[in-house]
Amino acid sequence: MASEIAKDTLCVHTGTYHDQAQPGINSPIYTSSSFEYLDTDARTYPRYFNTPNQESVVKKLAALESGEDGIIFGSGMAAISTTLLALLKKEDHVLFQADLYGGTQRFITTDFPRFGIEYSFGDATNIEMFEEAIQFNTKLIYIETPSNPLLRLTDIEKIVALAKQYGVLTMIDNTFASPINQNPIPMGIDLVMHSGTKYLGGHSDLSCGAIIGSKGLVAQIKSTATHFGGNLNAQTCYLLERSLKTLALRVRQQTYNAQKLAEFMEKHPKVKKVHYPGLESHPQHDIAKRQMEGYGAMLAVELHGNADETRQFLRKLKIVTPAMSLGGVETSICEPATTSHAKISAEQRQNLGISDSLLRISVGIEATEDLIADFEQALP
Ligand SMILES: Cc1ncc(COP(=O)(O)O)c(C=O)c1O
Repeated sequence: MASEIAKDTLCVHTGTYHDQAQPGINSPIYTSSSFEYLDTDARTYPRYFNTPNQESVVKKLAALESGEDGIIFGSGMAAISTTLLALLKKEDHVLFQADLYGGTQRFITTDFPRFGIEYSFGDATNIEMFEEAIQFNTKLIYIETPSNPLLRLTDIEKIVALAKQYGVLTMIDNTFASPINQNPIPMGIDLVMHSGTKYLGGHSDLSCGAIIGSKGLVAQIKSTATHFGGNLNAQTCYLLERSLKTLALRVRQQTYNAQKLAEFMEKHPKVKKVHYPGLESHPQHDIAKRQMEGYGAMLAVELHGNADETRQFLRKLKIVTPAMSLGGVETSICEPATTSHAKISAEQRQNLGISDSLLRISVGIEATEDLIADFEQALP
């Protein structure tokens, strides 16, 4: 169901709610939580995920991901937890790739056992080993590519083939790529999830999450979602809709800057390692070339030197902000060990390869030369 219309055009136009009475060019913000019902079959209500502002953003996101339908939530974690708990029941098993956002991992390991849902974490970079973790009761395979924070890739086509062979559903966290750089649904993935707090919002001023997939799956998830709540309010939907109009522009500039910064860092004598799918040195660069339209705007680096020197480097940065979260127009940098992955154990971090000196960079839209100059002056 790939769209014939370019993503840039979809970003600007798709989903806009045209008010016939006042034909403004933008969707109005419908602040009502109560809607009249006598002359309509519609039962419009924010927690039913069917208000005009919710539907406007969902239409745009579904078009950008080539999906049939979607749901917009108040956070990425609301999208993940609601979707998984809607589709799974006691004694079902889920196979997760091992490299996942820390919050997702915590949700699985702390909440799944309470619901009697079984799970395994597998190395999705090794598809044969990953396959061995599939069980008779596996209902879903969940991947995140590129992964947070090490930018490891999972071969989407191979995962889809595996899932089809065993008749299980597939879900992907597509946050790091954004719909501009990767569209898993045309590759055969069933459900695409985004933490919209990141690239979709893009200005570090809102929190939301999205799930996109077939009409049937979305209806099933929506039925549970109306019990869990977790809906997004009209004002934030509007802010998101406005942000999405520039998604393609923003993400392309961010991706361009990330490539240039990664190339600069890779050559710098004080940098031990750069993790970026757009570099030929990335062990899965070939997979990136196959499944990504652009290599994304996230990279991770390891510097030579100790923890104190890394902290000094962070303090010397002038344009780049040491901050949590990612995907905004401003470049930010953080230490995953004390931020995104702080809540998983030190042992788990070590097993995943997340060292205390690892730095994750979310590249913004600043002028490329200013960004590189800032890193250059701060590196020891
Ligand atoms: C890859 C990824 N997925 C999901 C989430 C969770 O999203 P939210 O913070 O919007 O709940 C995050 C948050 O950092 C993330 O980085």
